[in-house]
Amino acid sequence: MAREIVEIQKSPEIENPKLDLDSLTPKQIVAELDKYIVGQNEAKKAVAIALRNRNRRQRVTEEIAKEIQPKNILMIGPTGVGKTEISRRLANLTSCPFLKVEATKFTEVGYVGRDVDSMVRDLVEASITLVHQEEVKRVEQEAERKVEERVLDALLPGLSTTPEERENTQSTREKLRQKLRDGRFEEEYIEVKVQESAAPQMNVFSNEGLDQIGIDLSFVSNLIPQRTVTKRIKVEDARDIFFKEEAEKLVNHEEIRRRGTQRAEEMGLIFLDEIDKLAAGGREERSGPGVSRQGVQRDLLPLLEGTTVRTRHGNVSTENILFIAAGAFTMAKPSDLIPELQGRLPIRVELQPLGQADFKRILTEPADALTKQYKALLGVENFELDFTESAIEEIARIAYKLNESVENIGARRLQTVMEKLMEDHLFEKADLSKIESFTVDADYVVKKLSAIVQDLDLSQYIL
Ligand SMILES: Nc1ncnc2c1ncn2[C@@H]1O[C@H](COP(=O)(O)OP(=O)(O)OP(=O)(O)O)[C@@H](O)[C@H]1O
Ligand SMILES: [Mg+2]
Repeated sequence: MAREIVEIQKSPEIENPKLDLDSLTPKQIVAELDKYIVGQNEAKKAVAIALRNRNRRQRVTEEIAKEIQPKNILMIGPTGVGKTEISRRLANLTSCPFLKVEATKFTEVGYVGRDVDSMVRDLVEASITLVHQEEVKRVEQEAERKVEERVLDALLPGLSTTPEERENTQSTREKLRQKLRDGRFEEEYIEVKVQESAAPQMNVFSNEGLDQIGIDLSFVSNLIPQRTVTKRIKVEDARDIFFKEEAEKLVNHEEIRRRGTQRAEEMGLIFLDEIDKLAAGGREERSGPGVSRQGVQRDLLPLLEGTTVRTRHGNVSTENILFIAAGAFTMAKPSDLIPELQGRLPIRVELQPLGQADFKRILTEPADALTKQYKALLGVENFELDFTESAIEEIARIAYKLNESVENIGARRLQTVMEKLMEDHLFEKADLSKIESFTVDADYVVKKLSAIVQDLDLSQYIL
């Protein structure tokens, strides 16, 4: 075991993940985003450029890099048009550590509540989790092999002493292995030793508050004696327990922490939603929440500019972290933010309201388009679903109309409309013994939805 850990430390790591992951060209980034997001080309281009600029900045000489200010982005646009979605997809496709926070969640430093620095700490945690997942994935096969041995050990207890016996057991073991691989022991019970903490109420020592001052108390939980208990559980359940244990033994936690922190620093992406709610809304407020909201804006300045935040994994510089702030700005204008904050969000992009034609595309084109989702969902029940072109047209028309007459909630309207449209099928079609097919056409859409659409009162509640 020890030998293997050493080997892993020495093995050439994917030491510099940014080379593989952060090296997409702006065009490639936009092409990837196009797979999921309809329209909003200006916003896509802006985030693609910002991401690439960060990568460029990391490659110029240190002297020049110091002079180049990070360019954070302010996204402006009505609700449900893709602000969050663009950032989320961006993070996914580059495996940048990503954190989405509501700006309204924070309170000014010195007051009770979460201070803005905590978002950097959360980003670091997210990043470490990400690296940890990658590492577990990397050792997956080896861990699975060890799991199999442990299951076999448990199925075949007792040590054999004489050489013949050992040989016998060896061949029995191989036979068992084959059966195990054929899935014939999954329901079998085996005895498993599991670690149980002697102090289950340990959670009262939450790290939350202490984390704020950058102290790691997680070692306390290691001081509480662990008790090993033997349990009888099914093979299929034992696999999960064994896998966790084996994978944890194979990965290098110190290394994961180090790389997680480093990746947060170099490739982190923080999405600051509802930034408009921090704006004063035109009025100068002298007391009450307004003052605190301005305080939060002020607290954000150093973060956006580049500062060092103390986390329990060490100091983290925010210099290369890309901030994308977003807001609908219906009540307040971007110019209602304090000037220094406006200055630190130099790239402004406006997202466009979505039209009926966009809705049609959103329903069908993205890799995760709603019609595809419902097809897949009902497909598992042996129910083959299809949509005619005119049905899509009609759904888009109804959604658009509802946005105009009730309230404009952007593409989110499609979700409520689709759910209502598919309601009967979702309820009735379950475990079909033979395949059934159904094609949603325009008639069906009208029949199912027109009564609700016409009744404005009803649509306010249902769609
Ligand atoms: N341009 C688009 N292309 C494809 N899908 C979209 C688009 N805009 C929105 N959607 C869909 O609508 C949902 C809501 O969009 P999103 O979360 O991006 O809204 P938002 O602009 O952040 O709104 P809010 O201001 O309310 O946070 C997304 O999950 C996505 O499925
Ligand atoms: Mg959003």
